[in-house]
Order: sequence, then structure tokens, then C-alpha cells
Amino acid sequence: MPQKTFYIETFGCQMNVHDSEKVRGTLAQRGYEQVHTVDEAGLVLYNTCSIRDKAEQKVFSRLANYKRQKAQGKIFGVLGCVAQHKGADIFEQAPHVSLVCGSASYNDLPGLLDRVEAGEDRVEGLSLDTDDTFETPLTRRDNPYKAFITIIEGCDKHCAYCVVPFTRGPERSRTSQSVLEEAARLAAQGYSEIQLLGQNVNSYRDPSDAGMDFAQLLAAVGRVAGIRRVRFTTSHPRDFTPEIIEAIDANLALCDQVHLPVQSGSSRLLARMAREYGREDYLDRIRLMKRAQRNIAISTDIIVGFPGETEEDFEQTLSLLDEVEYDSIFSFKYSPRAGTTAVKFEDAIPETEKSRRLSILQEKQRRIQLRRNAALIGREEEVLVEGRREKSKQWIGRTTQNRVLNFSDPQAGSSDLRGSYCRVRVTGSGPNSLVGELIATEAAQAFHGFRILQ
Ligand code: 5AD
Ligand code: SF4
Repeated sequence: MPQKTFYIETFGCQMNVHDSEKVRGTLAQRGYEQVHTVDEAGLVLYNTCSIRDKAEQKVFSRLANYKRQKAQGKIFGVLGCVAQHKGADIFEQAPHVSLVCGSASYNDLPGLLDRVEAGEDRVEGLSLDTDDTFETPLTRRDNPYKAFITIIEGCDKHCAYCVVPFTRGPERSRTSQSVLEEAARLAAQGYSEIQLLGQNVNSYRDPSDAGMDFAQLLAAVGRVAGIRRVRFTTSHPRDFTPEIIEAIDANLALCDQVHLPVQSGSSRLLARMAREYGREDYLDRIRLMKRAQRNIAISTDIIVGFPGETEEDFEQTLSLLDEVEYDSIFSFKYSPRAGTTAVKFEDAIPETEKSRRLSILQEKQRRIQLRRNAALIGREEEVLVEGRREKSKQWIGRTTQNRVLNFSDPQAGSSDLRGSYCRVRVTGSGPNSLVGELIATEAAQAFHGFRILQ
């Protein structure tokens, strides 16, 4: 086994995926080489998620497979949300773990690694009282075309079901200057799509004198030369201002896509969840988006079976799906989390009933997506090509609305299209993706002087 090798597995959201990219850069700087199996690795890291119990259990089942490997000199570390939430208890539950470090302490990782490498056991990085954001020029990005940029970390909201305020600490924003410099650096390296990240991305508040709010920062990132697509996630409805939609309308680099988690269609339940908006407030935001000049695709997150959710509350969530006609949804059964307010609520919904509601909801949404996707047949879309399916000889592209569009090249004459923007005609649809045929590659578009739509 070569010295200093590491393996990292990431669970959870895009914030975690991006944190792992930064951790990889930090490790590479220290002379570590990344390997792709636990067996080859000297250092094994799990970057964990604790949003639902299932996610949390995954890391413990992984760790259980390697109980005896510490004796062979392997070092195990737990990073991220489970690390922060469970803290030193992890050492009891999995005694072969030597390092536990939450995301608010990643700036301290080099020092923590020094200690682990020196043979120290039970090393913790669990402080949450930090003003730091984890910014590092060492980030090792996975995707060569699309890059994440964290603009705000942590969360100051107190949704009754959610662990995130405990796992990622209080809100802290980066300066607009550092965000814009990172975007320009990425453009110079050839990235053309940027996704701005934050637990509540639209609660962004520039800590510097420039004093930008989220809409202003979004517009500024959209003006960075070379950046053709900008997305952002996740937005909280309470802080979702009309200026964000105006920014999208004004700049073609900002994608036609907004993810706006609603959680429930019932105002009564939203109040119980402490979401700070009601159904009508939420629908006001949706109406603003529908009135925009751009054809904004809207997606959401929904929780079913929150304590006290009556059949009538659930019906209201179903009717919200009809009213909004989301382009896609992420839906979950409520999972009680230690430390949250809802864990004390006594009117739990039985698991079987949660499952029943989830499948009704998902079936309803599947039909909506089938219909909405079918309506796109015949249209021309611009896609960023992300990959290739050799078996079906199709390219995998993504539209500005974030739909996957798999397309063939009838002339079969194109070279490697990955990373380029192509025009594609939609010829077919399913509930989760579209299929199409190439009309023109980027080179052809430039040659014929087509207007590039992004
Ligand atoms: N149980 C189920 N789903 C949850 N989410 C957050 N906390 C919980 C929980 N305790 C969902 C929300 C959130 C998404 C990231 O995960 O819908 O928007
Ligand atoms: Fe999971 Fe939330 Fe942590 Fe992301 S922030 S990894 S979703 S618990």
C-alpha cells in the first residue's frame, strides 16, 4: 500500500459534495493520493448526512464493515453532518473511528490530520462558534464543466423537523468579491456553468462594504465573462424576493430554473413546521415566477407524514401540486431527528400511512411530469453536454430548465461533444427525461452565426 492514500465517500446534498471537493484539495496539498476503494486507502473518510435517519444509518453500516481494519493501520474519519450531530458518541458507537469533524471545522483539518497522523486517537473538530466559511483555492472539482461555489454556509431558520441548524451552525456569508473572483477563476479554467450553493442561498448578505443581497450577487455572477449558466440552490420561500426573478429576466446566463421547497401545501402544517410562510405567501412567489418573461421551471421538496398531518392537510399538498404544476419534486417521509422541536410532537403518523401518502403524491407528480415533458416535444433546446451513453449511442445533455435531454446525432459525424453547448430538437419524453436529435453543435452554431441562447 503506497503511503498516504485516502478514500472518501460522500452522502447527502450538493453542499456536502462540494465540501468533499474542498477536502480532497486539502488532502492533495498534504501529499495524499486519492484511491477509489477502501482496501487501497490508508485514510478512509465518510462525509455524512443526517437529514433523515436512513442517511445517518448508512454511515454506521459502512463503518461496521471495517471494524477490524484499524489494527492494520487504516485510519477512519467521519466528517460532515453526522459528525457534528453525534459528536464524540461516534467513537463509542464505532471505536475504530479516530477523527470526527463537522463542516464548520474544516479550516482546522490540516491541524487535525497532523494529530491523527501522529497516532492520536479520538481527534475532534466540532466547534460551531466560528465566523469562518470554508474557502480554499485547493478545491479539487469533480466535473470539468460545472462548478459549485458556496456563497453562504449554515442556517439561522428553525424549521421544526430539521437538523441542519445543529449540523452546519449559524449563517455566514462570503464576501461578494471572493465569490466573483472564484467565478472568474473558474471561467478562466474553462468552466461555463456555476451553481451557487447555500442551505438558504437567498438569505445571502454580503459582509463587505459592497453590501450585495442575493439578487445582486446572482446578477453579478451572471455577468462574469465566460459563464454561460448560473443556477442556485436551495432557496427559502420567505426570503425569495421579486428582485431574484427580475435578475433572471434580465440576464440570459441565469438559468430558467428555481428550486423552492414548500414542504407542505397546508398553512396549518406550515405553521407547525415553523416555516414562516403560509400556502398563499408561497403561491404569491410562484405567481411571480409564472408571470416572468422567462419560462422558469419550478421544483420543490415535500415532506409527508409530519406529526399531526391530517388527511385534509395532505389533500392540500396534493392540490398544491395541481395548482403549481411542478417540473419536478423531491418527496420524503418525515423522519424524526434528535434535537429538533418536532421530535417532541406526540401525534406521529404511522409508517404505513406515511408510505401510502408518499406513493399517492409521487404518482400524482409522475402524471404531471409526463404531461409537462410531453408538451416539450417538437421544441428546440440548448443543452450543455455532460456525458455519453455508449450503449444507445446517445449524448446526455441538460437544458436550462435542468431537464435531462438524451440525444442522438443522426449524421453520427460529431466528435466528442462533452462540455459543449448544442441545439437539440426534442422528439420524445418520459416522466423524468427527454430524448431528441442534434440540430447543431456549438462549432456549427458559431459558423452559421446562430444566436447562442444562453
Ligand atoms: N424528515 C424528512 N425529510 C426532511 N427534510 C429535512 N428534514 C427532514 C426530516 N426530518 C427534507 C426537506 C428538505 C430536504 C433537503 O429534506 O424536504 O427540504
Ligand atoms: Fe444532509 Fe442537510 Fe447535512 Fe446536506 S446539510 S448533508 S442535506 S444534513
